[in-house]
Amino acid sequence: MDRRKNPYAPGAGVQPPELAGRDKLLEDAAIDMDRILNRRPTKGMMLLGLRGVGKTVLLNRLHLMAEQKGFRTAKVEAPEGGLLPQLLAPELRQVLYRLDLQISTGYKLRQAFSVLRNFVAAFKVKIGDIELGIEPVHGEGDTGNLEQDLPDLLVAVCEAANERGTALAIFLDEVQYLSPNELASLIVACHEVSQRNLPLFFVGAGLPQIAALSGNAKSYSERLFTYPQVGPLDVPAARSALVHPAKNEGVDFQSDAVEEILRVTERYPYFIQEWGFQVWNSAPSSPIRFAHVQQATPGIIAHLDANFFRVRFDRLTPLQQKYLRAMAELGPGPHQTGDIATTLGVGVGAVASVRQQLINKGMIWSQRHGETAFTVPLFNEFMKRQMPILEKHEPKRRPH
Ligand SMILES: Nc1ncnc2c1ncn2[C@@H]1O[C@H](COP(=O)(O)OP(=O)(O)O)[C@@H](O)[C@H]1O
Ligand SMILES: [Mg+2]
Repeated sequence: MDRRKNPYAPGAGVQPPELAGRDKLLEDAAIDMDRILNRRPTKGMMLLGLRGVGKTVLLNRLHLMAEQKGFRTAKVEAPEGGLLPQLLAPELRQVLYRLDLQISTGYKLRQAFSVLRNFVAAFKVKIGDIELGIEPVHGEGDTGNLEQDLPDLLVAVCEAANERGTALAIFLDEVQYLSPNELASLIVACHEVSQRNLPLFFVGAGLPQIAALSGNAKSYSERLFTYPQVGPLDVPAARSALVHPAKNEGVDFQSDAVEEILRVTERYPYFIQEWGFQVWNSAPSSPIRFAHVQQATPGIIAHLDANFFRVRFDRLTPLQQKYLRAMAELGPGPHQTGDIATTLGVGVGAVASVRQQLINKGMIWSQRHGETAFTVPLFNEFMKRQMPILEKHEPKRRPH
């Protein structure tokens, strides 16, 4: 098929041609946003899901929706080992400047600029000058303790937005990379804001373990957020995600070709885009047939191995790789943590630290105590291709 017209969009955070199967979630969020604009108490959202299910794309869509509804918005992606204040402060500064453009400066806005200035100084954030907020406010956002200062700052910015008759929306991607202190501070800040009935819509997205992480950080976090699960598409949505974009270009799929793609992709959105994209390129003409899919599949798997899976694999130590290989031996999972250790030929204690490192790197997660699962769909099959032989773990003996 004509590659110039290929409609599919494989790639992290790339808006798909058809955002299939997310209508309910978008509608819930739209209602939440309207409630906040009307100053009604509303929980924030933490979108939970594995890699490639479409969290970032949803976050971007909700960001756009919030802008269209008149929210002032801040959007941040937490980097691995990064610093939240450094990322959030410039975004909130932008929010305050945009509030300022509307009418002459109000009291709360000047106050918010001052708190931001304290915060920036306390956390040594590199940022341009903050010209407004001439009156210094002491004791607001200036202690250097994030759990105290972030609530001060968010409250001040929300009060400024409120004063202007608008609301703040914060979008935070890759929440699992926040340090425990950052996550706790964020939850405390959202709590403060909600207790004062100030207008904030918080949307986070990340790997499924953030539900447990935020619960551990602050027990009341479940009263502050809903945790919508973002997973593989259901069958009708997966079909539309694949078939509609082609249809719009005048190209059809035969139904057994569609079913085959749904089978190999397990209806994960990223894989659907990847199969759609490459099958389109390799099929000679419409309709796309079962045989076209079958012929393309080995090449697509090789492409995923060399790119999507491989970049994750390469960031791991040999022992971390071995651990994942043992998990793969047991199947797609989740697996009993004890069974993984047994497969490696050791006790749980001998591999507890490597397991924790893999959780920190976002490679595995634990839904229930004693369970371990991959965060990347189909990673188990990749591990077997990459490391055909299962090796036992032989811990180094300490010299006596
Ligand atoms: N609802 C959907 N329908 C079809 N394709 C989707 C959908 N959501 C995401 N995608 C596609 O899946 C891929 C991964 O999306 P992304 O938002 O980066 O996932 P995540 O952030 O969960 O890792 C992208 O190529 C995107 O176009
Ligand atoms: Mg993402």
